Amino acid sequence: MSHEALQNLLHEDRAFAPTAEFAAAANATPDYYDRAASDRLGFWAEQAAALQWATPPTQTLDWSNAPFAKWFADGKINVAVNCVDRHVAAGHGDQVAFHFEGEPGDTRTVTYADLLREVSKAANALTELGIQAGDRVAIYLPMIPEAAVAMLACARIGAPHSVVFGGFSSEALRSRIVDASAKLVITADGGYRKGSAFALKPAVDEAVVNTPTIEHVLVVRRTGQDVEWTDKDVWWHDIVERQSEVHEAQAFDAEHPLFILYTSGTTGNPKGILHTTGGYLTQVAYTHRAVFDLKPDTDVYWCTADIGWVTGHSYIVYGPLANRATQVMYEGTPDTPHRGRWWELIEKYGVTILYTAPTAIRTFMKWGDAVPADFNLTSLRLLGSVGEPINPEAWMWYRKVIGGDSCPIVDTWWQTETGAIMISPLPGVTHTKPGSAMGPLPGIGAAVVDDQAVPVRNGGGGYLVLTEPWPAMLRGIWGDNDRYVDTYWSRWPQYYFAGDGAKLDDDGAIWLLGRVDDVMNVSGHRISTTEVESALVSHPAVAEAAVVGAADPTTGQGIVAFVILRGDAAEDPNIVKALRDHVAHEIGAIAKPRQILVVAELPKTRSGKIMRRLLRDIAENRSLGDVTTLADPTVMNLIGAGLQSATTED
Ligand code: WT7
Repeated sequence: MSHEALQNLLHEDRAFAPTAEFAAAANATPDYYDRAASDRLGFWAEQAAALQWATPPTQTLDWSNAPFAKWFADGKINVAVNCVDRHVAAGHGDQVAFHFEGEPGDTRTVTYADLLREVSKAANALTELGIQAGDRVAIYLPMIPEAAVAMLACARIGAPHSVVFGGFSSEALRSRIVDASAKLVITADGGYRKGSAFALKPAVDEAVVNTPTIEHVLVVRRTGQDVEWTDKDVWWHDIVERQSEVHEAQAFDAEHPLFILYTSGTTGNPKGILHTTGGYLTQVAYTHRAVFDLKPDTDVYWCTADIGWVTGHSYIVYGPLANRATQVMYEGTPDTPHRGRWWELIEKYGVTILYTAPTAIRTFMKWGDAVPADFNLTSLRLLGSVGEPINPEAWMWYRKVIGGDSCPIVDTWWQTETGAIMISPLPGVTHTKPGSAMGPLPGIGAAVVDDQAVPVRNGGGGYLVLTEPWPAMLRGIWGDNDRYVDTYWSRWPQYYFAGDGAKLDDDGAIWLLGRVDDVMNVSGHRISTTEVESALVSHPAVAEAAVVGAADPTTGQGIVAFVILRGDAAEDPNIVKALRDHVAHEIGAIAKPRQILVVAELPKTRSGKIMRRLLRDIAENRSLGDVTTLADPTVMNLIGAGLQSATTED
């Protein structure tokens, strides 16, 4: 975070109290904090009791094998039954679960009764394909209703899914399939984005050549584009459509694995974050109800995330459906076919709750107030933000221009690892400040500590830690328990270390300051510097690479790479483009460096460690910090000289 931004945070003294009207009708009430404080586990047991258990749990937390938690361990439950069947059984079959809007303008209305039929048929189809409880299923789909159906069908039969974001490369898909030994991939011919059809199936074809565990590829027809066909491939419409609409769901142990979701860490290998069933569903349902104040009979909720990220898992699929939400699901980009597409959808469906990311808000700010002004946004009553720190300017714009100066804003801090929201205001209870996530939710323990794990005083800064186990916490890293302990529980064994810096203001409100490790946050997506460096050095023209995240006014951080080329590669006029494309091929377009700077040397300490701090100074056009620990202080001049010629952007 830049120095100016920090200064702004320090001087932010605007505060917004909940209106009496909102507070009077709010799901969450001030006594939540007291109840959770006086009996934390009892509070969570109460939240768990809001679900429909086949065998209600008598146990709450088992922390005897810390840091491997068990929650509600003697309970049995089926997630899909909670998200679908029980609502139909209660007479809400005709309620819309999803108003789906494809990017080309095609629409589908999926009711809870439709969802029950589709999920049941899909569960039967998975069973026919040989998938059993415990088998892993990879899902690589665009944002279409089948994505939610596929996830719920897996959950229904106890087969943990591993959703891979459709923007990730074939190689990223392959490595995730291999790591989890998945038996099946569910994909589509393609999807729509930025006004045209993109393909997914070729990336799957390329990936599964080297994934011996994959037995079948189940393919949804979305775009109708031509696809290559192999004997492993099965059309979704061929196998799912002919299944029985009835599927008898079996209950699973609360600690049965629900899903694996890969996220970047500080090394080149993504971590398979493992989530389980009962505790996860308890916390996503509770937080969705309390933080978004969902009223299932009247609200229309829209979370703009992709199901490829944890936000899509927890706040499109599991939390909202457990709470019987009516949602909007949109396939495409915000500027297709015009920059008012989101506001048009809000007007069309009467969206009342919008949950999105600061990078989108800043993009809309850049496009100007006139765009949303053309639409009626008065249905909105609550706004949410997630993924990265929201700067006070963007927060105020969101409130004024989108929220009509009256909607409460919930800035929600959480992670793939936490599974559900951890730090956030409660609308109707908490006074909010523009740019602050305020404090831990009732039932959650968080602190800002210094290097010695001592909590900082108000006004001080340090590291964000979680001080108590929580129901939706990750249960480990798939196949690598040591890495789990090492990554999150070794710095201070009594605390979960989140990897974020934070500051407490004079009132004790928490201000997130971004990652303190080698993880970048680009448009709310987590990408490790090492991952991009490995991709770059896997190109034959690259001898060495160093990557930093540089402040970016729209995306939060932008990826800036410094590369040393081999031999005469520098003479190739297209080398920078070739390297950017190579990174996209290795990881995905989201990891394409914003800039690649060809340099002759990299700044290193005498022990050979790259000094990223100095590279960040260059990437952010700052005068250089202290260079005295450099092995060769003159390299910075060499680097500076190479810059202009090799910068590209698109
Ligand atoms: C990292 C987690 C949680 C879903 C999206 C990202 C950053 C997330 C906030 C926020 C400041 C935030 C943190 C965190 N982050 N929400 N409200 N304010 N920073 O999930 O990919 O697992 O990334 O995103 O740095 O550690 P993720």
